Amino acid sequence: MLSLGVSVEDRDGVRDVVLDRADKKNALTVAMYAALADAVTSAERDDVGALLIRARGSAFTAGNDLRDFLDQPPHGDDAPVIRFLRGLVTTDVPIVAAVRGPAVGIGTTMLLHCDLVYAAPSAVLRLPFVDLGIVPEAASSVLLPRRIGRARAGAALFLGEPIDAPQAHADGLVTALVDDGALDATAENAARAIAAKPRQAVRETKRLLLHDREQLLAAIAREGKAFAERLASDEARAAMSAFFARSRA
Ligand code: COA
Repeated sequence: MLSLGVSVEDRDGVRDVVLDRADKKNALTVAMYAALADAVTSAERDDVGALLIRARGSAFTAGNDLRDFLDQPPHGDDAPVIRFLRGLVTTDVPIVAAVRGPAVGIGTTMLLHCDLVYAAPSAVLRLPFVDLGIVPEAASSVLLPRRIGRARAGAALFLGEPIDAPQAHADGLVTALVDDGALDATAENAARAIAAKPRQAVRETKRLLLHDREQLLAAIAREGKAFAERLASDEARAAMSAFFARSRA
């Protein structure tokens, strides 16, 4: 099923979720977040064994669509992006990701919620929130320093330094580096392997790993408030408008 930039298909117990807006580097629109939220939140009910998140084209995702940020910024707890993020935290279904090329903003922060992440050598994680006049989201203000340490998180968040594929692997953000041609199949095989295992043991394992869900949901709410305030600021609007001025130049 293709839903405005996201295709979702269930195969052999795996829900295959594909970001499918390659001409815009899979920049995520409100409609795409709504499709992603639905795909994640209904997975348990539909007895899905594993979620696979991957992308078409040369980029995983350029992050939130900056035009959407300018024209229809997310409002409130029911905004599709917030539903998607809460779904990532609350689902008991393991999530496997396949990443090639840029994974910007939420493209990186969603990976912090994945159980296995396979990356091609071209993968580059970037968190340019501060440069855009906004703040980290998806509980990354908690998860990133926890995963890579406060000092390395500082370089990514304050300086906007990219984390390339070998570094992401060394940091433990990536399960394995895989040649580009084998990336999607490797990730899908891992998802199928999980889906074939005893379902309730898998789900209970995920619940145990996510014993701090309340803390993560509180972080999403806290970040969301600051994010909305910053998004409405002149500095954010100027930075985002500059991206489109540059791409037209
Ligand atoms: N929102 C909206 N449109 C975007 C976008 C975004 N986040 N990222 C890319 N696009 C669009 C470009 O405007 C361009 O559209 P056009 O062909 O109509 O001009 C198209 O996607 C291709 O992007 P381009 O910049 O030419 O590709 P690239 O390969 O040179 O660079 C990126 C890829 C991802 C490095 C670059 O597009 C980028 O930095 N994007 C912005 C990332 C960002 O700041 N995201 C927000 C994070 S919170």
